[in-house]
Amino acid sequence: MSRTRHVQLAPSLLASDFADLGGALRQLEDLVEVFHVDIMDGHFVPNITLGPMVVEALRPRTERLLDVHLMVADPDRWVRPYRDAGADWISVHWEAATHLERTLSEIRKSGARAGVALNPGSFPDGLEYVLTDRDFVLVMSVNPGFGGQSFLPASLVKLAALRRRLDDAGLAGVQLEIDGGVDAGNAADIVRAGADILVAGSSVYGADDPRQAAQQLLKAALAAIA
Ligand code: DX5
Ligand code: ZN
Repeated sequence: MSRTRHVQLAPSLLASDFADLGGALRQLEDLVEVFHVDIMDGHFVPNITLGPMVVEALRPRTERLLDVHLMVADPDRWVRPYRDAGADWISVHWEAATHLERTLSEIRKSGARAGVALNPGSFPDGLEYVLTDRDFVLVMSVNPGFGGQSFLPASLVKLAALRRRLDDAGLAGVQLEIDGGVDAGNAADIVRAGADILVAGSSVYGADDPRQAAQQLLKAALAAIA
């Protein structure tokens, strides 16, 4: 089945100035549809970022979607607080969820879009049995926990294999999000491999000119489907 591709850039606030998150939103607001917000709890990953109160503070500062990536242990506990704080998309890690189907149902019931995030070493059997056509899969192309790491090339093979599996399972609507080490140099390959949503932190907010970097990345990504 052929799919209509809608390729998006989701700048990751992780690489922005945490003392000026509102400014980071403002800087790219007109260029993107969605911002990526990384939540790390110091348990599932060896780093800590921010909590629901910060998401709540961001909410009125942008009309764009907030894509909340939960890198936390026991994600069930955190779906409601982040949804109440204003998350539009919520992804939980396959590796952290004990009863994943229930967690995804809770996310959908809350009104948010549900995502399953996969560590680089995970390619789980049964993924297709817990997804619906409106969900997304977040493919980590670095080990979660830190920004600024190099893209793992095997992620391209994984994206293509996941795309085939989802299409075969009748889940052509499930989008693939790629997260980690994405830049204007690899964006075209990533999109050709099947990614729809490209998260980019340091290559955008870490650039001298984040607006220009976002535009270049988007241009490279969109050229791959033109
Ligand atoms: C890493 C986070 C990423 C991070 C990506 O654990 O999930 O979203 O912000 O940062 P870059 O684009 O710098 O690899
Ligand atoms: Zn992330």
